Amino acid sequence: MKIGVPKEIIAGEARVAMTPESALQLQKLGYDCAIETGAGAAAGFSDEAYQEAGVEVIKTAAALWKACDIVAKVRGPEPVEAKRLRKGQTLISFFWPAQNADLLEQCKAKGANVIAMDMVPRISRAQKMDALSSMANIAGYRAVIEAGNNFGRFFTGQVTAAGKVPPAKVLIVGAGVAGLAAIGTATSLGAITYAFDVRPEVAEQIESMGAEFVYLDFEEQAQDGAATGGYAAPSSPEFREKQLEKFRELAPEMDIVITTALIPGRDAPKLWLKDMVEAMKPGSVVVDLAAEKGGNCDLTVADEKVVSDNGVTIVGYTDFPSRMAAQSSTLYSNNIRHMMTDLTPEKDGQVVHNMEDDVIRGATVTYEGEITFPPPPPKVKAIAAQKPKEKAKELTPAEIRAQEVAAFKAQTKNQVTLLTIGAVLLLGAGLVAPASFMQHFIVFVLSCFVGFQVIWNVSHSLHTPLMAVTNAISSIIILGALLQIGSGSWLVIVLGGLSVFMAGINIFGGFLVTRRMLAMFQKS
Ligand code: NAI
Repeated sequence: MKIGVPKEIIAGEARVAMTPESALQLQKLGYDCAIETGAGAAAGFSDEAYQEAGVEVIKTAAALWKACDIVAKVRGPEPVEAKRLRKGQTLISFFWPAQNADLLEQCKAKGANVIAMDMVPRISRAQKMDALSSMANIAGYRAVIEAGNNFGRFFTGQVTAAGKVPPAKVLIVGAGVAGLAAIGTATSLGAITYAFDVRPEVAEQIESMGAEFVYLDFEEQAQDGAATGGYAAPSSPEFREKQLEKFRELAPEMDIVITTALIPGRDAPKLWLKDMVEAMKPGSVVVDLAAEKGGNCDLTVADEKVVSDNGVTIVGYTDFPSRMAAQSSTLYSNNIRHMMTDLTPEKDGQVVHNMEDDVIRGATVTYEGEITFPPPPPKVKAIAAQKPKEKAKELTPAEIRAQEVAAFKAQTKNQVTLLTIGAVLLLGAGLVAPASFMQHFIVFVLSCFVGFQVIWNVSHSLHTPLMAVTNAISSIIILGALLQIGSGSWLVIVLGGLSVFMAGINIFGGFLVTRRMLAMFQKS
């Protein structure tokens, strides 16, 4: 079968659904690849690069649609493109079926099988095909870069001969894919970053990325993302009020606000209101990633950059991924390539449209003359199925003391039992074994015991589990050797000395290696 990629026809769309690299992979799946002349030019991929990768360059869109069994695109089909579809042809692109009922009807009438990349379910197995996440990741990154471009100061704090510069304070509202990418970029640029989300399970992710989670003192914050397919559910008016109150408190301090809050299938919630913009310092920047769905900020104008009366810049671009077309085309074409891998189980260049497959079923919106949207819920739970950790019960000092005493008693009981068993075994061995053996055996047992005790008390962050074991063995060797070194025989002295030396290298070398390993994970 032949898979073809036409040039995107929407003005300003610079992405392309196939790169020379992804074409090579598609060919390995057994497909012939084709591209319309100049389709990759805006993303930096020339026709020659495609030809070198074995891709046929077709002059016109009409000829390409005619020649290909599968057509891959970035944007959903425009009316002129939908007209070109034919029975049995497969179209893979973003589609937004809920918002494009007419287009869906048109594709159904044509008998085409349409796979909507925006409908790929958010389950672990489908992550490699999750084009929404690939694009949101780029949008989050670019939002910070765009904010920096409009912000007249450094992100990171600096102390220079010319004066001290405080670090910028960045607030990210909504820690989905785009929000997390924005957090990563803002923290790596050195800003003090705060983030808020209605899903408390993301608090850990936010904190692990070096940002501070903005907690609300409100019970409802505990939503279960898994129940809604990894997405948030709408919050109550009381929760919203609490949230707005917190934002109002933060607004005067924040230099940059990046809003990414969205609940699928709804207009973006208004979270950064006019009075919050008015409370911000002149020169501050708001980047509203939800601009396309109406915006999270009251003052956002989609596709534009506006400046408020008090000098706050509000960026409402809706084409962030397209502004980084080389990167986004590479990731998107990889998503398409993985989707094709799923559709081609035999790697023989033949599409097997398996409607039993959760991912394929979920993303298919028309199939064999039927509309198959909305899909049934996937059998596998969404990725965000993690429940927030239960809060530890607060204990009184008396309860804590009682717990400590109980733990100490249990520990002592264990130790006494172990010692008794050890003593009985030693006595038993002493009854049958010769005296010379017993002398060495007792030295061995004692060194095991002391070596173990020594190493057990070393903080675990200082040695890896493997090292803990080798160090325990080394300390046993050292103790055994030290006990023998006083013997009269020169051979025993030399061997004892050698053992202490070599085990010492193992222990101290191990600690040095661990230090270097820990340094690799420490922020400079
Ligand atoms: P996502 O669904 O992964 O994340 C949205 C996050 O907002 C979720 O974590 C959700 O819990 C949170 N949220 C929902 N309601 C909230 C509220 N009231 N307060 C705080 N957080 C709330 O979505 P993703 O993929 O990260 O995309 C984020 C936004 O970026 C979307 O609006 C998307 O359309 C937009 N986007 C914009 C692009 C552009 O070029 N402007 C490109 C790609 C995505």
